[in-house]
Amino acid sequence: MPYRVYIQTFGCQMNEYDTELVRSLLRDRGFALTPNQDQADVLLMNTCAIRENAHARVYGHLASWKAMKQVRRVVIGVLGCMAQNLKKELLDTHPVIDVLAGPDAYRHLPDLLVHALERQEQAMAVDLSEYETYDAILPERKPGVNAWIAIMRGCDNFCSFCVVPYTRGRERSRPARGILEEAHTLAARGYKQVTLLGQNVNSYGSPDHDGYDFARLLSAVADVPGIERVRFTSPHPKDFPPALLDVVAHHPRVCRHIHLPLQSGNDRILTMMGRSYTRNTYRDLVAAIRKRGDIALSTDIIAGFCTETDEAFSDTYELVREIEFQSAYVFKYSERKHTIAWRKFPDDVPDAVKSDRVTRLFDLQRRISAGHNRRLIGSEVTVLVEGHAKKSSQQWMGHTDSNVTVVWDKSAAPLAVGDRVTIRVDDASASTLFGTPVTSLVPVV
Ligand code: SAH
Ligand code: SF4
Ligand code: F3S
Repeated sequence: MPYRVYIQTFGCQMNEYDTELVRSLLRDRGFALTPNQDQADVLLMNTCAIRENAHARVYGHLASWKAMKQVRRVVIGVLGCMAQNLKKELLDTHPVIDVLAGPDAYRHLPDLLVHALERQEQAMAVDLSEYETYDAILPERKPGVNAWIAIMRGCDNFCSFCVVPYTRGRERSRPARGILEEAHTLAARGYKQVTLLGQNVNSYGSPDHDGYDFARLLSAVADVPGIERVRFTSPHPKDFPPALLDVVAHHPRVCRHIHLPLQSGNDRILTMMGRSYTRNTYRDLVAAIRKRGDIALSTDIIAGFCTETDEAFSDTYELVREIEFQSAYVFKYSERKHTIAWRKFPDDVPDAVKSDRVTRLFDLQRRISAGHNRRLIGSEVTVLVEGHAKKSSQQWMGHTDSNVTVVWDKSAAPLAVGDRVTIRVDDASASTLFGTPVTSLVPVV
């Protein structure tokens, strides 16, 4: 009987994608996967290290697995960014862990697990690679509408607050040919939407990548017959040539949505963060995007970064008010060991002040999002049916082109996952549009 493996995933979409890679690598080596942790011989956790609360969640989970290990034999493995970040320190402080594998070491994982299962010794693989892109491995994807494709891995930006360059190593792009072949395979398997992933997705490419830069790759993936929608995340504001903006604005199957992480609206803080744009160059980019029509913008913001004064914060607040993003993720600054900010700057904004700034930005953005969504009442939006709504199995859920969640009653029209449908918007909250199907099966452009 094969060993059964249970995997729990934390963190970003890249981690979700890596779990799909791991599932495929394990299955190829004769492991079975189980959705039930009580039946597993191996418990794996794919971890995130981006903020301290990501670490806290992992420690909490490890405690419950430790209790499980006290009553039966089970191998516990920690994968992902936290494993890479803490390496041996994590094994030493948590002897309950048998196996540790970083994001570039998953090809070794089956051997490490066999080692732990059969010899009951701790094993670890945390070497970062300049080349690993898992190019020839087809991840084991969940059925549905969307499939992720990682087109590049790692990050060379070294924003001063960020742990990612240390947990995922140097930036490297996957050859375009492999990406396009994978898009064809996905289309043949019925996936309608592809999301291109990378920590810095729009810096894709180099002369040896068949001459593809990100704009050309995006357009080529969207040209694959059967793919109806292409999204991408996360881009960096520094890499938006006009050709890329044109593809987003004009390609009928590229979603008219750009996630454009701002982080701060204050130039002194942006310089300290190492973001390589200013308040004004960011604004200019927003203007260049909006000049091309209705393209939704979302963003990430960090509140309470080192030395952020009330005035610096109000620069961010005012810019968020001015730009009116469709949505924004707001994070409380969380100091990460070994980063540039940890080495050079004091984490001197009191926690209560950070929390207050997060709340203020969150409230502002909620009002802005609600305003955007309310303006859509009475209009028609096109969505792909993605699955049941979170709150009710009697409702379907999908997203607009601009990535807003849409919910409607199943009883209103006979539809299935993957169908394309036009919805008239009847009502709206800050996060969701509620509507009624007006036609089903809109022909694909
Ligand atoms: N590569 C992506 C970001 C990945 S992390 C990009 O550059 O857009 C996602 C978000 O987490 C970042 O945009 C940032 O807003 C936030 N983040 C990263 N490090 C953080 C830290 N130390 N404290 C708080 N938020 C952080
Ligand atoms: Fe982190 Fe900056 Fe790289 Fe994004 S671009 S992953 S924030 S270092
Ligand atoms: Fe977290 Fe690593 Fe993603 S730190 S956000 S899982 S790249």
